[in-house]
Amino acid sequence: MSLQDQLVALSDAFYQRLSEAQNAETFESLRIDFFGKKGRLKTIMKTLGDIPKSEMPKIGQQINVVRDELTKAFDQAFGSFKENLEKARLKAEKIDVTIPGKIPATGVYHPITQTIRLISDVFIGMGYQIAEGPEIEAISYNFDRLNIPSGHPSRDERDTYYLNDVHCLRTQTSPVQIRVLEEQAPPIRIICPGKVYRPDTPDATHSPVFHQIEGLVVDRGVAMSDLVGTLNVFAKALFGPQTHIRLRPHHFPFTEPSCEVDVTCWKCGGKGCPTCKHEGYVEVLGAGMVHPNVLKNSGVDPEIYSGFAFGIGVERTAMARFNIDDIRHFYDNDLRFLMQFK
Ligand code: DAH
Repeated sequence: MSLQDQLVALSDAFYQRLSEAQNAETFESLRIDFFGKKGRLKTIMKTLGDIPKSEMPKIGQQINVVRDELTKAFDQAFGSFKENLEKARLKAEKIDVTIPGKIPATGVYHPITQTIRLISDVFIGMGYQIAEGPEIEAISYNFDRLNIPSGHPSRDERDTYYLNDVHCLRTQTSPVQIRVLEEQAPPIRIICPGKVYRPDTPDATHSPVFHQIEGLVVDRGVAMSDLVGTLNVFAKALFGPQTHIRLRPHHFPFTEPSCEVDVTCWKCGGKGCPTCKHEGYVEVLGAGMVHPNVLKNSGVDPEIYSGFAFGIGVERTAMARFNIDDIRHFYDNDLRFLMQFK
């Protein structure tokens, strides 16, 4: 085979393998096979020994041209191979910092907690402070000092959890009124949210544990109109600005006069519908002017001071506000119910 033919065959073989090279190893073995110390170019050079001296420069030049051409082609192909490799690596490592993070699943505040906070905010906005009292309460605070005489039906064992001769589980948040009157001098403006206990069999509207928010205002010249105005603010804040309230005469031993307070049904606006049992109104609290005996029992002179008090049913309010038909939903801890309050 002439040198010419050898060089052409070598070029063909080289380009064939170059087109097939796909990774660093094949490029390296290609390099060694063609340009290495024992590579095919060197082998051809060795055959030069057999050639007449006069031909040497011309043939040497031919070989150099081919070698330079192949080297250039190799460098180019290997260069773009490495470039593509780098691009692929960068692409694979790319981090998109604008993708939103994974949000961990979070819980929600219980609808009762939400309702207590909502109501508390309304009264805090009117200058009230939060007061607290114990859930294990002295019988005298829960009843006697609230002007509830012995023999009163609410003191019956079927209506109160008695723990011993002096203590019971409080049946209402009203004894906190006494504790506040004992500790603070008028002017008094407090609310007390908390749990209360009654031996009721659970049904759609009863639970042995439920929540109330007590309110007490005592100052000089406090009148029933102040109570009505305050309750109007409360009702509109919770049930919407179109809401109004209705007071029905009632009897509580610790207030005189006393009333039960209804709000217009948030669903029908007062026309009457299944939600309000066609009443147009829903009862949410009891209230009245603090009975002089209650003030006297705590050393406050009813000739100088007067006040109003109210007890809001938290479950009732939450059921009305969120359209819940069964009080037991609050205590079942069913996430399908609770997560709706997110
Ligand atoms: N303690 C009453 C109850 O549990 C609610 C209540 C009514 C509270 C009138 C008051 C009030 O402060 O003035 O049914």
